[in-house]
Amino acid sequence: MITRDQAIELDQNDPLNKFVGQFVRTDPNLCYLDGNSLGRLPKKTIENLNNFLLNEWGAELVNGWVNWIDEAQQVGDLLGAAALGSKLGQVLVADTTSVNFYRACKAAIQARPNRKTVIIDEANFPTDRYVLQGIADELKLNLVTIQNDIKTMDGKYSESNELITPQVLETYLNEDVALVTFSVIQYRSGALNDIRQLTELVHRFGSLVVWDASHAVGVVDLQFDKNNVDLAIGCTYKYGNSGPGSPAWIYVNKKLQNEINMPIQGWFAQKDQFIMGSQFERANGMRGFQIASPSILGLRCVKTSFELIQEATLKLISQKAAIGTNMMIEIFDERLKPLGFKLATPRDSQMRGGHISIHHKDAEKIARGLRVDKNVIPDYRVPDCIRLAISPLTNTYVEIWDGMDRIAEYVKSGDFHKIGEPKTSVT
Ligand SMILES: Cc1ncc(COP(=O)(O)O)c(C=O)c1O
Repeated sequence: MITRDQAIELDQNDPLNKFVGQFVRTDPNLCYLDGNSLGRLPKKTIENLNNFLLNEWGAELVNGWVNWIDEAQQVGDLLGAAALGSKLGQVLVADTTSVNFYRACKAAIQARPNRKTVIIDEANFPTDRYVLQGIADELKLNLVTIQNDIKTMDGKYSESNELITPQVLETYLNEDVALVTFSVIQYRSGALNDIRQLTELVHRFGSLVVWDASHAVGVVDLQFDKNNVDLAIGCTYKYGNSGPGSPAWIYVNKKLQNEINMPIQGWFAQKDQFIMGSQFERANGMRGFQIASPSILGLRCVKTSFELIQEATLKLISQKAAIGTNMMIEIFDERLKPLGFKLATPRDSQMRGGHISIHHKDAEKIARGLRVDKNVIPDYRVPDCIRLAISPLTNTYVEIWDGMDRIAEYVKSGDFHKIGEPKTSVT
């Protein structure tokens, strides 16, 4: 098993180590293993936001809009180039992941008007399942849900890691399918679906795919253009480090931009926006998919963080994620497996992103106790999952090593049994 000294050596040779100090760290003893949920605050964001408040909003007032008006597309281009493998003119940064998911799905379904089936999987993130249920009800569609959820509380442990395989998907596809939607990384198990293979398969049946890349953006080297992705959406607050509730993004491949329409026709999508005409006429390019005034404050957070990601490169970021998650799995095998944990994440580093997921019957208590008693922040997901992440720009290897060490010692001690009842429903 990898030793602590070896983790220190990994840090010494880490080309991304110089980024760690560029993020706010108020407690040097904290092991923060939850960058897959909310990333750390870049110091530069504080400076850039202060400048924006004082020198732009404060000083320029409404005149500032001359400079801000196209910022959702400009930051979209940056994010697309830095993290999505997207050429210019295909990404917008605006609104929330859920809203972008709704409009991407609705647009795809309406581009296949004679088809009545939509497909999702049970292991997908709740908002995606709920939004699609709503669309299916509204448009009277046949909603098919692939059953790939890991159910461990009832004693049944699925070895599938929630992965969607082409073999399984093919059995659901036919000429009635308008839309298929999956997450790039399964939010709970951490398994990485094969975008290229699955997209290609769905295209053979003439359907479109919407990918939710929330758990992949900023940690997996996504190649949307190369993989012929149709539409994709995702957040910026996880490995994107852009802050709680920061604006989300939407990718619309150029080949589809004239074929699809967004369900909400806001004034930012209007061809000559400030002519204020009586009829909607869609602007060309990504601007035609923007609904409304973007949060410029939020965009500045996204811009600052994705400039860091661009500088670091997804090649090095994804390499560090693979080394860090390998290290976690080694420590898991040696010290956590004997304590009753099970691994939900694929062992092949090409089949995961930045987090691993481990099951334990007392996961909720352990995850809560670690925060209180051990200064480790993991995250917990029902029914029995603890997710542990390496966020390559913000974590050192030794922080991950220490976190895993504290988890093993804590569970061995049994002290988590003494932790009381939860004081909040937020996990
Ligand atoms: C995979 C995935 N999709 C969608 C969402 C929902 O995001 P939002 O609340 O930003 O709409 C999340 C939130 O964590 C997520 O993990």
